[in-house]
Amino acid sequence: MSVNQKNHTNKGTPLLSLQKVCKQFGAVSALTDIDLDVYPGEVVALVGDNGAGKSTLIKTIAGAHRPTSGQIFFEGKPVSMEGPSDAIDLGIATVFQDLALCENLDVVSNLFLGQESGPFALDETEMEVRSWTLLNELAARIPSVRDVVASLSGGQRQTVAIARSLLANPKIIMLDEPTAALGVAQTAEVLNLIDRVKAKGLGVILISHNMQDVRAVADRVVVLRLGKNNGVFTPDSSNEELIGAITGASDNSVTRREQRLKSADSACEV
Ligand SMILES: Nc1ncnc2c1ncn2[C@@H]1O[C@H](COP(=O)(O)OP(=O)(O)OP(=O)(O)O)[C@@H](O)[C@H]1O
Ligand SMILES: [Mg+2]
Repeated sequence: MSVNQKNHTNKGTPLLSLQKVCKQFGAVSALTDIDLDVYPGEVVALVGDNGAGKSTLIKTIAGAHRPTSGQIFFEGKPVSMEGPSDAIDLGIATVFQDLALCENLDVVSNLFLGQESGPFALDETEMEVRSWTLLNELAARIPSVRDVVASLSGGQRQTVAIARSLLANPKIIMLDEPTAALGVAQTAEVLNLIDRVKAKGLGVILISHNMQDVRAVADRVVVLRLGKNNGVFTPDSSNEELIGAITGASDNSVTRREQRLKSADSACEV
């Protein structure tokens, strides 16, 4: 079922709100007039074909790209981010597709990479305890936090990358194709993890090409097509509806329904 983005069951101020965000790369319009709302404790799936603008949108929210025009609001306030560290400071965490984990380091070292020194540095024992606490909280199945990442499965690596982004206590987390390379059981584990992140009250933006995964965890499905919004759907929407919006195929159940309603309207007018 297609839903109006501004008119769903969540109340209050969205954590994140994009209004008419555009991003041009020279003559290429990667994003045009994008509206997007994400509420606390909500999983928003971002779907669309290759080149639809999903990664550009995530990078814009993550502070890696500056919007050409339009406005991003965080907790109701307009924000202007100069770079990724501004997004992180606001509480926006991103897990990129390549994860950027260090294969030869163990789980603890990967979780605290770059934070080992400085005024808030923890010692080895503290880091290990925090790693266990966090991974237990996420019910993550990591055999030992002293295992090197190279020995972990794809799902376990994804878990470590997600856990690392949660250490900074973000309010929103964006995941780019977290289940793309995973088997059935590992995918289920990552989807469970997303459920637990949502239960902690975080907003989640999930990019996925897998409609089954999207249906399993998303509260709303936002479709991008050719850099524009192309509908917001509930997860119980049919494959035809979602695929129709993603591909722009004109003959799908949404357009057929619209046609039916239009002809019913015109019949009343006569
Ligand atoms: N840095 C850039 N410079 C120029 N054009 C870019 C840049 N980044 C993205 N684009 C263009 O913007 C459009 C959207 O690309 P984007 O990577 O956001 O798509 P996507 O939805 O993530 O696709 P995929 O599913 O293949 O990852 C494409 O036409 C792409 O070529
Ligand atoms: Mg992409």
